[in-house]
Amino acid sequence: MDWGMIDRYAKSLIKEAGHRIRVSFAREIQIDTKDDANDLVTDIDKDIEQFFISRIRQDFPDHRILGEEGFGDEVSSNEGVIWILDPIDGTMNFIHQKRNFAISLGIYADGAGMLGYIYDVMADDFYHAVRDGGAYRNDERLPRLERTPLNEAVIGINASWVCPNRYVDHERVAGLVKNCRGTRSYGSAAIELAHVASGRLDAYISMRLAPWDIAGGSVIVGEVGALTTDLRGREHDMLTKGTFIAARPGLHETILGEYIHLKS
Ligand code: IPD
Ligand code: CA
Ligand code: CA
Repeated sequence: MDWGMIDRYAKSLIKEAGHRIRVSFAREIQIDTKDDANDLVTDIDKDIEQFFISRIRQDFPDHRILGEEGFGDEVSSNEGVIWILDPIDGTMNFIHQKRNFAISLGIYADGAGMLGYIYDVMADDFYHAVRDGGAYRNDERLPRLERTPLNEAVIGINASWVCPNRYVDHERVAGLVKNCRGTRSYGSAAIELAHVASGRLDAYISMRLAPWDIAGGSVIVGEVGALTTDLRGREHDMLTKGTFIAARPGLHETILGEYIHLKS
């Protein structure tokens, strides 16, 4: 497989998709809901996913595509090359703020993350990584992450997990919030992973993420030495929804060991 060629192809496709999104702000956006009233989707999310899929199917007919909006393939096994795409991660930000959203793409071969991309469209920050080739923000190589103690760490976490919820003991999570240096919540898992990769966040935690939220980011953070697992410390399965943490070494063990108690 010529990964260099696929890397160049994917970068150019993502840049073109970013341009389409920016241009779309000139027209009225159609907003719909999915599973619940706060689970939003727009015609642009769908248009961008279809844009990727038509190009990938034309140029790589034997690759499969797992996309959030469901225009890709039914993927139930890791075999072969799979493009895992979130056309707009942070749709609520896209609608409410017209910024702080990203295109997220990971390209996997037999379950191994080979290429990862997060494009923060409005900031024009492009995070990318090739397996074993390091991670970059635009042209700048991102340094490897050093260990950081919890009391000096800034953690990406959504406030929902400090409220009673069905996934995790929220009082322990409140202890985490209290004992770290600070918390941030950006409303886009992909952007939060980009921040972990560049050291702006020291860890990012969520109780429920889908493959397309983290496929690109996992490759990128892995290249700078962050650990990515589910909240039981197991390798995250790239085909199902579940809990997720990405953190600097050391911090990963502290958070899972002392602050996360899953309910089932
Ligand atoms: C969402 C964002 C959000 C995360 C949600 C995701 P979407 O993705 O990444 O930050 O907390 O779990 O579903 O719906 O905007 O693509
Ligand atoms: Ca998403
Ligand atoms: Ca999305």
